[in-house]
Parts: sequence; structure tokens; C-alpha cells
Amino acid sequence: MCGIVGYIGTKQAAPIILDGLSKLEYRGYDSAGMAIYDGEKINITKSVGRLKILENLTHGGETMSGVCGIGHTRWATHGVPSNVNAHPHFNTDGTITVVHNGIIENYIQLRQMLTDKGYQFVSETDTEVLAHLLDYYYKGNPMEAMTKVLHRVEGSYALGILFADCPDQIFAARKDSPLVVGQNQDGCFIASDVPAILRYTRKVYYVDNQEIVRLRVDHMHFYTVDEEEIHKEPVTIDWDANAAEKAGYEHFMLKEMYEQPKTVTDTLLPRIKDNDIVIEGLNMTDEELKGIKKIHIVACGSAYHAGMTGKYVIEGLARIPVEVDLASEFRYRNPILEEGGMVVVISQSGETADTLAALREAKARGFKVLGIVNVVGSSIAREADNVMYTWAGPEIAVATTKAYSAQLVALYLLAIKLGRVRGAIRDKEYASMLGDLRCLPDQIELLLNNKLKIQKFANRYIGAKDVFFIGRGIDYAISLEGSLKLKEISYIHSEAYAAGELKHGTISLIEEGTLVAAVSTQPDLYAKTISNMVEVKARGAFVLAVTCEENKEIEKAADYVIYIPETNPFFANSLAIIPLQLFGYYVAVGKGCDVDKPRNLAKSVTVE
Ligand code: G6P
Repeated sequence: MCGIVGYIGTKQAAPIILDGLSKLEYRGYDSAGMAIYDGEKINITKSVGRLKILENLTHGGETMSGVCGIGHTRWATHGVPSNVNAHPHFNTDGTITVVHNGIIENYIQLRQMLTDKGYQFVSETDTEVLAHLLDYYYKGNPMEAMTKVLHRVEGSYALGILFADCPDQIFAARKDSPLVVGQNQDGCFIASDVPAILRYTRKVYYVDNQEIVRLRVDHMHFYTVDEEEIHKEPVTIDWDANAAEKAGYEHFMLKEMYEQPKTVTDTLLPRIKDNDIVIEGLNMTDEELKGIKKIHIVACGSAYHAGMTGKYVIEGLARIPVEVDLASEFRYRNPILEEGGMVVVISQSGETADTLAALREAKARGFKVLGIVNVVGSSIAREADNVMYTWAGPEIAVATTKAYSAQLVALYLLAIKLGRVRGAIRDKEYASMLGDLRCLPDQIELLLNNKLKIQKFANRYIGAKDVFFIGRGIDYAISLEGSLKLKEISYIHSEAYAAGELKHGTISLIEEGTLVAAVSTQPDLYAKTISNMVEVKARGAFVLAVTCEENKEIEKAADYVIYIPETNPFFANSLAIIPLQLFGYYVAVGKGCDVDKPRNLAKSVTVE
């Protein structure tokens, strides 16, 4: 979603800001802009479309001279993507400029109040009210104006602000939208996400809710919204900066798919110690684990799909009822949480607004929340009571692959741990499960190496209008994710259906040649899924089957079969998803789509 980068120092700001924004491109955006103080006034350049256009307009930043500036990539919420709606926004005489991530929820009232006082608005955005409201309260003291504004606005924000009167300073603030600041020997930085400034500094400070930062060339000061100065400790980022580079792959998505054997290994192996599953961040005794009566899994997008698999696996292995909720639904449906309930939120970014709100809802009702999170230091990681990290490293492609695979493995570990503690898994089964888990990375590798076969098949479907994915039980959860992968990056309409439900409506959409991908990895359901395949085939569908090597029977009903290696059926999702990811990827590549940055989508959805 929107990105923010700001710099004040001894170097030219514009090239640094453009470089930083390019590192945030993956988050999804539709326009970009920069404001640079040139020594006399603040100059602004902005443009709808890719960052490349802003780079060309400013000759890589050269035409915008100055050592202090802020930049932004916008993902439209209020107002269409356009030059006028792009950030930075400014007050009438251009002396105060603002970049903003988040949503000002009471902007209509504020806009009315300011219009009544004679302010004129040029854009349709909620952000523009901030520039005029700052102007309204500014009487020569930026901190005073900021605190007054922050007390009046409702909603979420990460802000970067320039006041022409204070050319040696940048101001920043945050509430419910991520923001970090950092420093090196040449200057200070603000960014909405660490990769934007990782090239310049590894020492960052996470700005907390309702904090203000005042940055100068050589130092930063932190304040509460009531202007009380606070002390903060820096965090040293130890990621490999190369992890955020393509390393010779055509797309980040392909690279990240290829990283899955490592991701699964990294999330799995450190937690198997002497044949025992040790989940450090869980912080629950065996007695507490035995006392769990129900688990609520709450997440969005692919993390929700991982949660769906988690439901089948936890219910199957630990015999604990599991309810899976979309975070956007959970937060507003007054969920019934009862004693003995455990809430698990799953999020790659750790910043998804709805998931964060669901976490807060559960905590407010007195429930401890376990976060299964990828980004260390993210809001969900910091606010959850307990955290189980998926060690997938930075994920850049909007369509998640490796983080999803890591979430699955984290859920398997949790399920086995629960099943073991509660006596639902016997010794022999347990040993065999650990053995199967350890085999997953090599098996994933094997499937990835089969990519040419899937590429050839995918090329036939670049003109497809509709594709359906069907499966039962865990295979339904896999279908949901396979379908999402295809539609989000190739723009082909696709739906996932529980195979048995197809005949209650969706089967009417099957026409001659419609592709139906049938996932069948659960031995006790093989025959049932074959029946559903036969039903769609009889109506003209072309059936692609993803199944286990032993299920040769399926060849009688399928037109094309992809086999996955043998594993415990509870872990089959980790294998069956690989050909489906590759299928979605190659259809999108074949269609010439922007695979890593699909239209209208964002990597980290920080607004509701
Ligand atoms: C966005 C991304 C999806 C992701 C979802 C949840 O829609 O495009 O790939 O699954 O958000 O994100 P989270 O960071 O909470 O896992």
C-alpha cells in the first residue's frame, strides 16, 4: 500500500527518496510524488502512474535540488489515481507539505470546517485536510500545530511533513500505520517500511502510536502527541539486503517460490529439538495447552487460506474445534469468545489493518492472542501477547508464496504440539509426522523443478475466461489459495468451490473447454472427488488434477494430472500448492501481466 520516504542530510535528497520509494514499489501504488526544499521554497513534482515517470520527470531527482525532502507512492482510497490526488499535498501558499499513509476518517467534517473558514481544496483526498488544518493551527511553532492537528484527526496515519519556515527539519508522526526512522553519518531518514532505507542504515527506530518525530541533519527527537520528549532505543536490522533483490530471477514471485524449501526448513527445523516440538514464542505451559477448548484463527487473504488449512489440521490432529474468520468480519460481528478460547492471528506483514483490529478486539475482551507473523517488529508482532515467527525473510511480490508456505508449517507445528500434549497423537504417528515434515523441503524442490511441464500447460490457458478450482476438506483450502493466486496476478476470473457444493449452482457456469482444477490429496476422499470431476467433465470441462502418486485411478477422470510426492495427508497442502502457484505465475507471465505488482493490489493493506 502507500509508501513514504523522507531524508534530511548532507546529500541530495531527491535521488535518495526515489531510490527508497523504488524499494517500496512492491507494496502496490498508482501515483508518486516528491517535495524537496531547495533552500528558498518547497518544490513539488508528482505524477500518476509508475515511479519511473517521476524519475524521468526529475531526471533521476537531479532537477529537484535540495538536501531535505519527502516522497510518496499512493494507492488510491479517496479520489481516483491522478496527478492532483497524488501526494505530497500542500496548503494554499505551498509552505506546508504533507505525505500520508492511512485514512483520516473524519475528513468530511474537517473539510467542511476548513471550507467554511475560506480554505480551498484542489484534490478529492482525505490527506489534503491535513495540510490545511496544519496551516490553520500554525502560528510559527510546527510542534504546536502538529499536536493540535493530531488531537483533532480520527483514523490512521503515518506522516511526513515539511514546513518552509523550518528548512532544516522534517516532522513525522504515526498512528496505526507503520513508520520507521533511521540515521547514518550523512543524515536522517523516515520510511513506511525498513527496505526503503536499508541501503543507508541498519539502525532504525520504530515509531509507536501517537508519537511525533522531529528530524534534523544530525539528530532526531521523539515526542508524545502532548509534546513530552521520550527516549527510544534503536533496533538493528540484521536482514540480508540482497534478500530484497531479484538475484537473477525474472520476477520476485518466481524467486520467492524457489525460496520455499528454505523457508519451510527455516520455520520448521529450529523448532524440532531432540524430537520435541519447541515453540518459544508460544509461552504456554502444557497445562494451558491442555485447557484450550476452542481456537479462533483470524486473518486476511492468503493468511486466511492458511488458517483454513490450519482448521482441518488442528481439528484432525488435536481434536480441538477451530473457527476461522476473515479479520474484516471478526472485528465487527461481536464474536463469541468464551473461556478456554485461544485467538490466533496470522499475518505476513504484521500490519494488515483488519487483522490488527481483530487482535485488539480479542485483547480488549481479555483474551491472549498468538500472532503467527513474518515481519519482525511489525505492529501485530509487537501487540500480540505471544509471537510465533514464520522465518520467511522479506517477501516482495504482492502475491504471497513463501510466507504462505511458512504459515502452513507453523500451523502444522502448532497442531502437532497440541495433539501431542493432549494425548491425541501416539508415539508412532508422531515420529512418522516429524519424518514427513522433514521431507517437505526436498519434495517442494522436486515439484519446483517440474516447472516446465506446468509452464507448457499454463500457456494453453492464457486466454481463459473462467477457471474453477475444486477440492474437499484440506483440498478445498488449497483450492482457495490456488484460485486466489491465479486471479490476483493474471486477472482471469477464478473461483474455488468445495467439490461437493459445485452442483448447487456453480456447475451451471461450466461450458465446453472450461478449465477445472481438481485437488485431491486426501485418500479417504479420492473417490468422492473423482465423482465431482466426472460431473464437470460430462458438461464439457477440461479437468486438471493435482493428486498423490498412489491415486492412479484419477487418470480415468482427468485430462491432465500432476502428481505430488507421498506425505502425511495433513501436510499435503504444502506440496499441492506448488504446481498451483506455478500455474498462476506462468499464466500471468504468458499474458504479459505485471506479476510482482498486480493492478489494484497492495502487499500490505494498512487501511480497512
Ligand atoms: C494483501 C496481500 C495478500 C495477503 C493479505 C494479508 O491482500 O496482497 O497476499 O495475503 O494482504 O496480508 P498479511 O500481511 O496480513 O498476511
